[in-house]
Parts: sequence; structure tokens; C-alpha cells
Amino acid sequence: MNVLVTGGLGYIGSHTCIQMLEAGIKPVIFDNLYNSNESVLGRIEMVTGASPIFVKGDVRDKEKLIKVLKEQSISAVVHFAGLKAVGESVEKPLEYYDNNVNGTLVLVDAMREVGVKSLVFSSSATVYGDPASVPITEEFPTSATNPYGRSKLMVEECLTDFQKANSEWSITLLRYFNPVGAHPSGQLGEDPSGIPNNLMPFVSQVAVGRREYLSVFGDDYPTKDGTGVRDYIHVMDLSDGHVCALNKVGQTSGLHIYNLGTGNGYSVLEMVSAFEKASGKKVPYKIAPRRPGDIAECWADPSKAQRELNWKAERTLQQMTTDTWYWQSNNPNGYPDH
Ligand code: NAD
Ligand code: UFG
Repeated sequence: MNVLVTGGLGYIGSHTCIQMLEAGIKPVIFDNLYNSNESVLGRIEMVTGASPIFVKGDVRDKEKLIKVLKEQSISAVVHFAGLKAVGESVEKPLEYYDNNVNGTLVLVDAMREVGVKSLVFSSSATVYGDPASVPITEEFPTSATNPYGRSKLMVEECLTDFQKANSEWSITLLRYFNPVGAHPSGQLGEDPSGIPNNLMPFVSQVAVGRREYLSVFGDDYPTKDGTGVRDYIHVMDLSDGHVCALNKVGQTSGLHIYNLGTGNGYSVLEMVSAFEKASGKKVPYKIAPRRPGDIAECWADPSKAQRELNWKAERTLQQMTTDTWYWQSNNPNGYPDH
């Protein structure tokens, strides 16, 4: 099976390409290099021994998409490409709606023209807004609190309407919880440009000496230790989830929605302490005010994915932190030309 992977050089996309190759699926990467660089291709090759086809392109370029879909005999698309920084989305809403919403509409239009009718979309637990309770099931009400979240929600709604009108299509919405970790080889991992927005890249940059201390955003939440609680999931488990989705429901018409999480919640301080243990490094931190828009706690009920996709997150918190550290300590400045 040849699968077009938009955003395939990014953090989650690159790990998913590796797991696809291991599973005998051929990824064709389509990425505009906005938040990635080509050296990721060499790393994928180093780890798998295979060199995936790479096409530099933007998902808003319909003609280019049509060409690739046809020339590479694509039978399904996994759509990672997009912008993902919550804070930036508040400053630049148009860019977010254009890239994330318009980009997806152009992609689906191109697929429709070529007759490729299987799509897996990267959604997010952010579509649950501030959930009334935990764990969160796929039936929980959805809402958005910022343009990034709203763009994910809009895409989910557009794709739901589209699938209703085109019942032969298979559309899968995967709602990721908090992806962390890296490939166990130490060759691939998360490489944010600038100051990391997310907890684990920040923690690992403190440990490697690139930043002085971590600001813990709030210690007065109604949680086990007052700090925010999230469902951190190893990026390799998340990647396996995409392979399972492609294999189990990718050829079955319908709208398929799954949470991809572990079902466990860890606090910020628990993550810091696990990271210190894995790295043998001290991670100095200071308690700072709450970050606007943050929720107290959020974790998944992942049982639907286990039941229907036969997928379950297997990797432990120790593996998440050990693999993050192995990547960060081997590549203190991320990928070479970033
Ligand atoms: P990433 O930024 O590392 O990867 C995204 C990739 O898409 C990059 O390689 C970038 O160059 C590319 N890209 C961006 N706009 C493009 C365009 N218009 N055309 C072609 N390529 C484009 O991000 P990631 O963490 O790997 O996230 C992948 C997807 O998962 C995103 O849609 C993101 O919103 C979603 N997601 C991520 C998280 C997370 O915490 N990382 C959580 C939930 C959902
Ligand atoms: N945190 C800190 N200090 C930091 C960064 C984060 O204390 O420097 C805390 C946050 O307050 C939160 C927890 O660490 O309690 C996790 O924060 P992240 O920014 O890593 O993750 P979020 O849960 O806020 O958001 C992430 C992605 C979103 C996605 C969401 C749900 O950034 O894109 O998970 O999938 F929508």
C-alpha cells in the first residue's frame, strides 16, 4: 500500500513513516519544510534501511497534490501537515485557518479528483475543550478555546459533513493526547524551533543546558499535586496507532473517531521527576502563574481504539523519558541545519 504522508518530515509524521516502513506500508512524504528539514529523510533511512520518496510541496497546492497522488498510485492519505502552536494561533488566526482548514479542504478536493477515498486526520484532545470529567471518551462534547483548537474542530466538522455526503469514503479522526518521547535509536525526536511551547521539549532543553530553568505554569490546580495533569503518550505508540488505523479501518467506509492516549495522567512535577531519573540530570524549576487557556487535567479513555483497532499504548513513562533524553543528549541542538 502506498500512503501519502503530509507533514511526514515533522515530529509525529517522521516516526509514523518509520513504523509504516516496518509494517510494509510505503510512505510518500509530502511536506513544505515549514517546520522540518530534509535531514530527517537520512535519519529515517538510517533507522529503517529504506529511503522514502519525498516531494517538497504545500497541501494548499492542489495541482501538485493531484500529480503525486496519481504518479505514486496512492491508496490512502495520512494528513499531519499543519501549524500547531496554540499561542501563535491567537496572534495569527488567519494563517492557522488557511493552513489547517483550507489546507485540508484542498487536500480532500485533490483526493476526490483522483479517486483516493481513504484519509486519516491528525486531530487533538484539544477538541474536548475543558472536559467536565476524566477520562474522556469519544462521545464527550467538543468545543474550542483558541484558533488552533477551532481549526482542528472545524476540520473535524468539515470532514464529518463530507463523509456523510460521500458514504463510500473512509475518514478517520485520531485525537492525540500529549505526544512525547523519541525514536529509541536516538536518531529522531522532537526539534522545536525557538522556545519550546510544550513541556517535555522544554524540560529536555533545561537538562541539556540550553535553558536555565523550567517555569511550572501553576501549582494551585485541583489535581494530585496542584500542577497540570496530562495523558503523555510515547510517539512510537502514537505512530503504531496510525498503522493500526490504516490496516483496520482505512479501507472500511465510514467516519471513524478514536482517542489515542494511554489512559494515565501524570502531573508536571511527576514528569520532571521521571525525567530527572532517566537523565541523571537536575531540572531546576520555578513555580510561575497559570498559563492562560490551560486546563487542570485531561486524560483519555482509550478503550475504543483497543476494542476496534486492536491498538493499545505499550510504552511506559520511563521509556518516554529515557528516549527523550537519548535523543536530546545525542542531538543537543536538534537536527543539523535547523
Ligand atoms: P510538526 O510541526 O513537527 O510537523 C508538521 C509538519 O507539517 C512539518 O514537517 C511542517 O513542515 C509540515 N507542514 C506545515 N504546513 C504545511 C503545509 N501547508 N504543507 C505541507 N507541509 C506542511 O508537528 P507534529 O507535532 O508532528 O504534529 C503533526 C500533526 O499532529 C499536526 O497536525 C498537529 O496539529 C497534530 N497534533 C500534534 C500534537 C503535538 O502535541 N505534537 C498534539 C495533537 C495533534
Ligand atoms: N507546562 C509547564 N511549563 C512549560 C510548558 C508546559 O508547566 O514550560 C505545563 C502546562 O501548563 C500543562 C502541561 O505542562 O499543564 C502540558 O503542557 P503542554 O504545552 O506540553 O501540552 P498541552 O496539554 O497544553 O497541549 C498539548 C498540545 C496541544 C494539544 C494538546 C492536546 O500543545 O496542541 O496537547 O492534545 F492540543
